[in-house]
Amino acid sequence: MKKVNRVVVIGTGAVGTSYCYSMINQGVAEELVLIDINEPRAEGEAMDLNHGVPFAPTPTKVWKGSYEDCGDADLIVITAGAPQKPGETRLDLVEKNAKIFKGMIKSIMDSGFNGIFLVASNPVDILTYVTWKESGLPKEQVIGSGTVLDSARLRYQLSSHFNVDPRNVHASIIGEHGDTELPVWSHAKIGLNDMETVMKKENINQEDLDQIFVDVRDAAYQIIERKGATYYGIGMSLCRITKAILNNENSVLPVSALLEGQYGHENVYVGVPAVVNRQGIREIIEIKLSDREKEQFDHSVKVLKETMKPVL
Ligand code: LAC
Repeated sequence: MKKVNRVVVIGTGAVGTSYCYSMINQGVAEELVLIDINEPRAEGEAMDLNHGVPFAPTPTKVWKGSYEDCGDADLIVITAGAPQKPGETRLDLVEKNAKIFKGMIKSIMDSGFNGIFLVASNPVDILTYVTWKESGLPKEQVIGSGTVLDSARLRYQLSSHFNVDPRNVHASIIGEHGDTELPVWSHAKIGLNDMETVMKKENINQEDLDQIFVDVRDAAYQIIERKGATYYGIGMSLCRITKAILNNENSVLPVSALLEGQYGHENVYVGVPAVVNRQGIREIIEIKLSDREKEQFDHSVKVLKETMKPVL
């Protein structure tokens, strides 16, 4: 009999539940276990989500669980932690959330968990590093959502600007999921055209592209200012990464992965293109960056390493 896929979601706030909603709607896993320090909340969310299952493409069993349920999990998605408030950067959350993570990871590992961690809480790159360190799991099994959402935002913006299906827009953001991230224009393609060709054809210049990037980089601030939090975009991004893992897709996604010499850096988790499958991160793809991109990437890593220091 085929093994049942169990996904445990830790944190049933807006991000965790938006993720669950996508998972159920897309019929990705057979079991979805909800854990939250606010147990009635997790229970209520499980009840509500279960009532939508009759309309889903395939059935998902949803229940409020505990850390004991983690032992048999294939994937644990962590969305718990203090969220960004208006005016706060993702990096401002580091000490608060690193502390929460240390206790949480220990409780999870005590269950005998040996699956894959997917971390979404911010600052995601640093908390993914903390998860890797505290869990003692191989680096392949610890993944951060990285710049998957930022890249989706970029593809969305380019798609609406050039009126092309976002699935035909290949463009990535790499680096910190946050203020120092960067767009990799040197490898971006709209349809099959590179950006140089697109710029000539559409009569736009580098400043126009820079503005598109700034809108992407600052999107979370814009949303938080208006509605207090972001959750649908990240929920669907996490669902996309989950499918790559559980369906053994070998998809190339800009997740947060541990660098060990790639791009000239080591001992840091940061958003880079990587091949994702049932084992987690199969490999990091090293692309040739332009001089400017390399400089920006180095700066992003430097900022992450500085910010990490107090929590190591
Ligand atoms: C955002 C949060 C998830 O970028 O950091 O929307």
